[in-house]
Amino acid sequence: MTTPGWVAALAEEARRALPAHVHHYVTTGSRDGVSVAEAAEAWRAVRFRPRVLTGGVAPDLTTEVHGSRLTMPVGIAPTSLQRLVHPDGELAMARAALEAGTVLTVSSNAGTPFADIGATGVTWWLQAYLTADRDLIAPALRAAVAAGARAVVLTVDTPVPGHKYDVHDAPFGDLSGVYGVNHPDAVRGATPGAQHATDLGPDDIAWLADLTGVPVWVKGVLRSDDAGRAVAAGASGVWVSNHGGRQLDRSIPTAVALPEVAAAVGGRVPVAVDGGVRTGLDVLAALSSGADLAFQGRLPLLALASGGASGVAGLLSRVRDELEEALLLGGISSPAQAADLR
Ligand SMILES: Cc1cc2nc3c(=O)[nH]c(=O)nc-3n(C[C@H](O)[C@H](O)[C@H](O)COP(=O)(O)O)c2cc1C
Repeated sequence: MTTPGWVAALAEEARRALPAHVHHYVTTGSRDGVSVAEAAEAWRAVRFRPRVLTGGVAPDLTTEVHGSRLTMPVGIAPTSLQRLVHPDGELAMARAALEAGTVLTVSSNAGTPFADIGATGVTWWLQAYLTADRDLIAPALRAAVAAGARAVVLTVDTPVPGHKYDVHDAPFGDLSGVYGVNHPDAVRGATPGAQHATDLGPDDIAWLADLTGVPVWVKGVLRSDDAGRAVAAGASGVWVSNHGGRQLDRSIPTAVALPEVAAAVGGRVPVAVDGGVRTGLDVLAALSSGADLAFQGRLPLLALASGGASGVAGLLSRVRDELEEALLLGGISSPAQAADLR
């Protein structure tokens, strides 16, 4: 596979900017790295049937989701340790997303107080990991909503972190101030019940919706039956993800899972996807396969490493331009028409 030149350049700049162990933490997948290696290639296998003689209406990438107007159907996925990648961390991501007019999903392990992220004015969603004792994480969830989080994204694929070789022994040192600063004391300490929940079920969706009063996305869905159960349990959005190949290695690529999940959801709620989405053409592949929104995880982190907020804003602007061109060449004028291209 050839990597698009600007993606390779961005990756190389990040490699030079980051300490080796941080670069490895960001780029690696779990175990044998099969899923992380397959993700981008799977999008490139999608083929289009472009339309012609359509009268040529200029593309409009505007996307509305849960009452928020986004300038494009591409957002930033939640990633932890952003302040290890760049001192401005989540704030830089927020400024870039604000400039681009799109949504930032903030990791519940973020190294920046939720109130500071909200104060930037960005449209943001909170990604949540639930604790074994649900009550322990409730104060952080309430704090996020008070700080303006407009949705909660429940990550359901992480009962334990998938093992990544050479990451757990890396010299990360003291992570206070860059990791989990929004966690209540009970979750930061060794309190019984503070570990990740291993018993997530459909009831957790309604619990979260009740507690927070905002729409709940379910992130980490790869199967149509699970998508159906999530929607039946009250999910306001289904997020197709294999966690960037960082959980169960050899999980199917999201490009493969997306069409069957989208079919099961059947338009009842929006569908998002992440994993190997790099270029505007990848985004078009995702939209044409049934996604309403696509998210990027590692690319914004790599852009952050070498360029801070302007690096991430530059990435989003490039993807936006590429997507606009792709719509124009495909003969469609909006993301919603992308399904027509298959
Ligand atoms: C360094 C790193 C940290 C991540 N941290 C989280 C996290 O805290 N919560 C979460 O739900 N997903 C997390 N993810 C997964 C991303 O949200 C996303 O699913 C994945 O990165 C998408 O694939 P991509 O990196 O190929 O774009 C992380 C991914 C990376 C690379």
